[in-house]
Amino acid sequence: MVDAFKRSRKYDVKLFIADKQGNPFNLKMAESHAVIPDLDVEKIYEFAKKHKEEIDFGIVGPEKPIINGLRDIIENKLEIPMICPVKEYAIEGSKVAQRRLFQEVVPEVNPRFKVFDPKDYDDMEPLKREVYAWLDELNNQVAVKPDKPAAGKGVGVWGDHFTTREELFQHFLANFEHGPVIIEEKLEGEESSFQAFCDGKHLVALPETRDYKRAFEGDKGPNTGGMGAYKDKEDILPFMTHADKEREKEIVNKIFRHLCKNGENNGLRGMPFYVAFIHTKEGPKILENNSRPGDPEIINILPLLKDDFVDVCFKILDGTLTNIALEKKASVVIYKVPPNYGGFSTTFPEKVKTEEVGKPVDLSQAYKLSEKYGENIHVYPASMEQRNGEVYALRSRAVCVVGIADTIETARKISLEGINAIKGGALWYRKDIALSNHIRRSIMHMEKLRKG
Ligand code: GLY
Repeated sequence: MVDAFKRSRKYDVKLFIADKQGNPFNLKMAESHAVIPDLDVEKIYEFAKKHKEEIDFGIVGPEKPIINGLRDIIENKLEIPMICPVKEYAIEGSKVAQRRLFQEVVPEVNPRFKVFDPKDYDDMEPLKREVYAWLDELNNQVAVKPDKPAAGKGVGVWGDHFTTREELFQHFLANFEHGPVIIEEKLEGEESSFQAFCDGKHLVALPETRDYKRAFEGDKGPNTGGMGAYKDKEDILPFMTHADKEREKEIVNKIFRHLCKNGENNGLRGMPFYVAFIHTKEGPKILENNSRPGDPEIINILPLLKDDFVDVCFKILDGTLTNIALEKKASVVIYKVPPNYGGFSTTFPEKVKTEEVGKPVDLSQAYKLSEKYGENIHVYPASMEQRNGEVYALRSRAVCVVGIADTIETARKISLEGINAIKGGALWYRKDIALSNHIRRSIMHMEKLRKG
């Protein structure tokens, strides 16, 4: 988003950035920069207050400040309009509320689910009996999800994170200690990410992207924030049909209209619907929804904006956003991450360049590739910190490179060239992001499912 603003040709944009750390990219771009490691909304409010007179509007990337009501605080106390949903629509704040909403509005695309609430159980025996009875009904093919984001052990899936009921129950209990837990039907299919900007009256769907959630090649290892993502030249992915996309828009619009009540609701401003869909033999179904842009998925899209991002934001605030013009290009985002991320260093200790761990990362050669590729390559530091003139990777996804081209294959090559030009810090990446074999497997999988 910072880059999209800075590429504005119409406006002299000044950015006031509240950041988790001294991100080198944001430091360079910001008029004023505040490090707020926990993204505490009161601290962000204090930062905004200092610059109140200079700020036209605010925009939010991560979910935590949205869930904690940043928009409500800033708009009520400072009257700075914000582009993100109000706290009430921070839909990822409760997976249980989310499932219940979908059950009311679009039950046909909601997986079968049951909520187990600690309030309803005093003893272990009846709890275990009811969990096992539900597993009987779903033939063990389930996903276990805590109500609150990142509570306990997080999401666990049968066949991936556990293969026995006892293991599943242990995973379940580790979440149940923290609050309600959902056990829902595990669906077979191919995943895609749907994102739409919203001005409270209109939903403008963006092209579909495919995220790679698992840490290791071949979709193995633990779930991560997303190791990379691809977008095709068209609005759909190679394994989707145009009818799938239309159906997704229909589903999301139904939820939007339901929440709008009287036809409009500017509480939903921003990106209230970043929906993870799974394409099954019965069409798209909803895995989950967030009220923020997807990371990395939004990074596939924003570099392709033909419209000025500032104008897009003004239209969101005015309620006049009916269209967003994008280049018709494929894009591939690959993240480079530190050795501990996703459990890499314990799973593959032999692959870690130990002499480089904790050392500075050199991005200069990657940046230099823009001399060769122009606007078709972008290097975005993420969980990185600038210290004493050097750049260091922190604990999360460190830096991504976006490649842009007419085909996914060429976009991938550009992204990889950038990734390989980043040196130091013992960073690693998934080598099969947007690989043609991986995409072909998705296409074949969907063909098989559709044939039944
Ligand atoms: N790509 C996953 C997420 O943004 O939650």
